[in-house]
Amino acid sequence: PDLSVDVVTIFPEYLAPLRESLLGRAIARGQVRVDVHDLRTWTTDVHRTVDDTPYGGGPGMVMLAEPWGQALDSIAPPERPDQPRLIVPTPTGRPFTQAVAAELAATPWLLFACGRYEGIDSRVTEYAARRMVVDEISLGDYVLCGGEVAVLVVMEAVARLIPGVLGNAASAAEDSFTAAVDGLLEGPVYTKPASWRGLAVPDVLLSGHHGRIAEWRREQSVRRTRSRRPDLLDPDGPA
Ligand code: ADE
Repeated sequence: PDLSVDVVTIFPEYLAPLRESLLGRAIARGQVRVDVHDLRTWTTDVHRTVDDTPYGGGPGMVMLAEPWGQALDSIAPPERPDQPRLIVPTPTGRPFTQAVAAELAATPWLLFACGRYEGIDSRVTEYAARRMVVDEISLGDYVLCGGEVAVLVVMEAVARLIPGVLGNAASAAEDSFTAAVDGLLEGPVYTKPASWRGLAVPDVLLSGHHGRIAEWRREQSVRRTRSRRPDLLDPDGPA
């Protein structure tokens, strides 16, 4: 496969959508391999415990280092010269962006570690970083219950950038946030009919003047970005 993906979670059924749609077809073709693993496979006690109370006190539970250590050693044996990139979705990670998606799409082996509760004992990533690249990433400034949905989001963004996975390669190249639109938002789009419920498609799009169409799209892109995402127009300005 062009891309191998392992996911470790205590809720394997959450990841079922990975096998749907675009990515599902890439898996069926053998272009992508996806294996979802239940973290509890690597517990040894009768209760299959994966968490405990935090040192120092505080609310919630922290995931135990030992099952995570065993899981990572089993999926990516330390003696293997090729190691995956470990992706840990967490609200404390670096922001996930289109640029990060492109980076991950160029990585042959991704290993996702889904945390639940208040997170995973910090020594797990510290130890893993001795042999693999560790990437803690956040989808945005809000808190999900666990990393599972974040993995679905990241994989959907990554999969469509893998050559041959998306039907139309040009559409990925011209998406919002890409160089084709200078990292701005794409403007509005239209299709037939030219008039619908009294609303007309902008004349310029029917004009056949490719230069004017490109100019109009650029204008719309800047206008929408100024209104919705001013931070993208002034990357050095206030966050
Ligand atoms: N897990 C919990 N919250 C998250 C977020 N905002 N992004 C990624 N993973 C998360």
